[in-house]
Amino acid sequence: MSHPSLPVRGPFPSTRMRRTRRHEWVRNLVRENTLSAEHLIWPLFVCEGEGVREAVPSMPGVNRYSIDLCLEQVARAIEYGIPAIALFPKTPTSKKTAQAEEATNPNNLMCSALRAIRDRFGDQIGLVADVALDPYTSHGHDGLVVNDYVVNDQTIDILCRQAVVQAEAGASVIAPSDMMDGRIGSIRNALDDSGHHEVLLMSYAAKYASAFYGPFRDAVGSAGSLGKATKKTYQMDPAASDEALHEVALDLQEGADIVMVKPGMPYLDIVRRIRDTFAVPVAIYQVSGEYAMLTAAAQNGWLDRRSVVLESLLSMRRAGANMILTYFALEVAHYLKGEEYVAG
Ligand code: PBG
Repeated sequence: MSHPSLPVRGPFPSTRMRRTRRHEWVRNLVRENTLSAEHLIWPLFVCEGEGVREAVPSMPGVNRYSIDLCLEQVARAIEYGIPAIALFPKTPTSKKTAQAEEATNPNNLMCSALRAIRDRFGDQIGLVADVALDPYTSHGHDGLVVNDYVVNDQTIDILCRQAVVQAEAGASVIAPSDMMDGRIGSIRNALDDSGHHEVLLMSYAAKYASAFYGPFRDAVGSAGSLGKATKKTYQMDPAASDEALHEVALDLQEGADIVMVKPGMPYLDIVRRIRDTFAVPVAIYQVSGEYAMLTAAAQNGWLDRRSVVLESLLSMRRAGANMILTYFALEVAHYLKGEEYVAG
């Protein structure tokens, strides 16, 4: 018996696949996947001070902004139809400690930024707040370290408090990126117990121990703190695939609203498997190293920036991602309107 989805007509010459590729109008009609600004979340790096705009050397075109300048960037994101931004703070080294006390300070940089953006823009844009301790620890790990090991349960207590101060400050989405076991359920309870049942949870569910995070660690200043240490005892092994489904299943049971795969382009198979297994919103993170690679090749004139950026993001949509975190978000929103982009 033939497969019901096989075409009824015979092969060449009655079937000519090129017919539906002949003109722009027909390509538009048969296309199954699309990319628009509505699918994008824009990560922004925040730093202390006023009027500060610092370039991130390993991510040309990406800056850290003090809160006042960050507001200008958020205004641009809203103007270009980007539904949400994701904030990452660069904590001054003087405020980093082994116990990450600064993470739960309701007046830390992250919370101040959330409050300022929420005050200015209300609910016009979603605010995704990263929950993990690495921007605040002197050792650069996402959790507390006891006897050279990142400990799970004690870390979760701090993550819960961190999530609550961020929710109080105006976060609409709490995004735990730490990969501790059981943190989604605990954070959900902590949010509900403090009256934040409307705050969403976007879990970095399948987050791999990837070398593609290098430039991000420069941007938030955790690279130096981490030194030669790795995150392999809590982030996933790049060789694992089934485990991603297990992680996602657990996070969904614990109350995640959206599950994320990270990094992006090297892990599209994982997005597809999750998509085919669970009927839930899936996010993918095109990480700093991916941004750096595409940017470097384009700067050398080896690749066409606009085309490869659009193609890379479309590949993530095709793999099944509902939404994409990407440093190219505002740039792409310009391209999709037929406009040129100049970084602010
Ligand atoms: C830290 C965190 C990382 C990223 C997002 N949150 C880095 C890491 O796990 O070391 C990476 C983002 C990127 O590379 O763009 N919890």
